[in-house]
Amino acid sequence: MSFEKTILCIGAGYVGGPTMAMIASQCPRCRVTVVDINPERIAAWNSDDLPIYEPGLDELVKAARGRNLFFSTDIERGIRENDIIFVSVNTPTKSFGLGAGMAADLQYWEKTARQILEFSESSKIVIEKSTLPVRTALAMERILNCRENGICFDILSNPEFLAEGTAVRDLEQPDRILIGSRETDCGLKARQTLVDIYANWVPKERILTSNIWSSELSKLVSNAFLAQRISSINAISALCEKAEADVAEVSRAVGMDSRIGPKFLNASIGFGGSCFKKDILNLVYLCRHYGLDEVADYWESVVTINTYQQERFIRNMLGAMFNTLAGKRICLWGFAFKANTGDTRESPAIFIARRLLEEQAEIVVSDPKALKNARTDLTGIAGRVHYVEDPSRAAEGCHAIALLTEWDLYRNLDFQKIFDGMAKPAFIFDGRNILDHRRCFDIGFNVYPVGKPPLTHF
Ligand SMILES: NC(=O)c1ccc[n+]([C@@H]2O[C@H](COP(=O)([O-])OP(=O)(O)OC[C@H]3O[C@@H](n4cnc5c(N)ncnc54)[C@H](O)[C@@H]3O)[C@@H](O)[C@H]2O)c1
Repeated sequence: MSFEKTILCIGAGYVGGPTMAMIASQCPRCRVTVVDINPERIAAWNSDDLPIYEPGLDELVKAARGRNLFFSTDIERGIRENDIIFVSVNTPTKSFGLGAGMAADLQYWEKTARQILEFSESSKIVIEKSTLPVRTALAMERILNCRENGICFDILSNPEFLAEGTAVRDLEQPDRILIGSRETDCGLKARQTLVDIYANWVPKERILTSNIWSSELSKLVSNAFLAQRISSINAISALCEKAEADVAEVSRAVGMDSRIGPKFLNASIGFGGSCFKKDILNLVYLCRHYGLDEVADYWESVVTINTYQQERFIRNMLGAMFNTLAGKRICLWGFAFKANTGDTRESPAIFIARRLLEEQAEIVVSDPKALKNARTDLTGIAGRVHYVEDPSRAAEGCHAIALLTEWDLYRNLDFQKIFDGMAKPAFIFDGRNILDHRRCFDIGFNVYPVGKPPLTHF
């Protein structure tokens, strides 16, 4: 079968895999190949056990794989044979040298640019899918267009806004698709090519086009705004605990203002995930680079409050449990950074587990999808850690349960049975405010939500 367009994606991660599966599924006349330097990842994408968990992803991949969706380690061939190349490699926070702990580490991205230059035998459209500092496209242009051999590269920015846990739905019905380009004839033509691909399933009014710098910056700003709402309500949750107000009631009252809206206003142990912290720090670094210290300080405080909230959770546990956790057995319900994903990158659970072990507590980690990642995250940390998938069994013999991920399955367990099997007095620290606190209290638990008065029997 001959295909209208041939598309390559470099980087088969959380973004590259699902995004390309959706394009292949919606555009049967496009051939989509996803390549990666990690052969195990590619083997997993080609198997029945995909490397990531997302509701609906298995079905999506299986329907298109082998038809017009292919996963391969042959990057050189991929670059040679495809006209449209998405770059979706990781852009973590730099851990060395200038900007360590703040700036984006662009080594994977730059390596990819050089590979594209080395192996291309014809002109290409190269699309930044990774989240990058504003003006990265300029560097990409300079690397790619350094040879005078008639091959030309048009760079587009097409940041990905999917949220883990709802990736398939977000890709199928995105709030918006953003495509930035240079506003030259070539740039606009390349932009139109990508608009045409998305127009196969995304309504036209949801496909936004912009200049390339606005597009790059919009992704960082979107994540900063989302994280800022979480830190705002979490900051208020600390005040609620002092003032005996209920943060859920405050959040409902505030969120009903149509100018504010109700989403992302749930108090919790804070945000995690691979993106929010790194993208805000990247924004902070950029602002400092441009001499905008007040702007940098403003955004940096979003991250400061997030760490504060996690530390506060531990301090509340310590205070409630008579100022010592040493030798006590604590069950963690949930390790993923949010529900419906197995991803634990930057999960608040890692911080909380580590702090509990420092207090010499023994911990039992439970999660329906993230135990494998949890084991990796906690490797090398001294202390007694057990892994038990079933949440009721995990709580047996424990002094306390700390609910860290908002998995639905925790809402409707047999709390009487769980209580009966625990050491007394039994505690629940609901780090996501999803349980029926009154019911747990009536059974006999001492219940500590976030940003609400605790319900205790003392
Ligand atoms: N995870 C999310 O929810 C999300 C959402 C939106 C945007 N983003 C952004 O998308 C980008 C990718 O994120 P991710 O979560 O998919 O990362 P990831 O770590 O899951 O995947 C990146 C993949 O790129 C591969 N890779 C690195 N260098 C390569 C090279 N030279 N050639 C081929 N493959 C290479 C890695 O092996 C890895 O499999 C990041 O910039 C991230 O900020 C992520």
